[in-house]
Amino acid sequence: MKILITHTIPDRGINLLESKGYEVTVGNAFDKNGLIAALGKDRYDAVLCDLNDKIDAEIFDAAGNQCRIFANYAVGFDNVDLASAHERRVMITNTPGVLTDTVAEHTFALILAIAHRVAEGDRFTRAGKYHGWEPMLLLGTDVSKKTLGIVGLGRIGSRVAHHAVHGFDMKIIYYDVQRNADFENEYEAEFASDPDDIFRKADFISIHVPLLPSTLHLVDARRLALMKKSAYLINTSRGPVVDEVALVAALKNGVIRGAALDVYEHEPALAQGLAELENIILTPHTASATEDTRQAMSELAAKNIIEALEGRTPPNVIKG
Ligand code: DGY
Repeated sequence: MKILITHTIPDRGINLLESKGYEVTVGNAFDKNGLIAALGKDRYDAVLCDLNDKIDAEIFDAAGNQCRIFANYAVGFDNVDLASAHERRVMITNTPGVLTDTVAEHTFALILAIAHRVAEGDRFTRAGKYHGWEPMLLLGTDVSKKTLGIVGLGRIGSRVAHHAVHGFDMKIIYYDVQRNADFENEYEAEFASDPDDIFRKADFISIHVPLLPSTLHLVDARRLALMKKSAYLINTSRGPVVDEVALVAALKNGVIRGAALDVYEHEPALAQGLAELENIILTPHTASATEDTRQAMSELAAKNIIEALEGRTPPNVIKG
């Protein structure tokens, strides 16, 4: 069996595939034409791809019908055209669960860092501007006991809520397409049947939805205008969920106090003016980037491939 991995990944999954006797080729960050060319060079039985790879009909056709599975090295799979995959009976898998804690931690790192102006303080100090303690220097916002709005109550959103309640006595208001009574009882959380209510009430809003036609620009100029002037927006989900041009305007004009982003609308490009703002923290889509978690993602993606190639249903197959 031959496996193509589209980018270098941590070794655990590669070792697992090789231990099965599979021939593994690791590519080096292909663009679309590069991936088509690589798929044309050999007949691969499986592809381990990631969110940089736009996997569509052309890619499936280039791979050929012996290629039974595209295992996405990510929990998100908006880079994959599922309809084309299902038409061709190609299995698509993702890596849920193993990155939940890590992304929730990163989300909390962003909440604390933007509220306490950590990155701004770091820039200030390194620039030699710190000349002594001052009562009014870089005043931030307390996180404890504030209201956290969670948009999207999947694994990661729930875990962020857990840290907020147990670590910081925060009050939770959440929106999800599915109401969760157990969660509400456990965390004394309020359900918002209309996401607008979260935008009106929360001091921090954290986005945890997948990218779908219905979540594209879920955070737009209108919803930003509903937010408190003192509120912060955090996004560790997918960039296009936030209208980045509207966010730049809201941050410039004091519509909201600050934001922290790990993902971008036209990744890796940033909207004009975003990087010049002081009241934002930007991380390079690294919310899941710890050594342990990236190894676990590598292993899970490999296990999905092994299950498929051995004729079983992979644990994380995505249904249409
Ligand atoms: C994902 O898994 O979808 C993240 O965005 C990258 O780890």
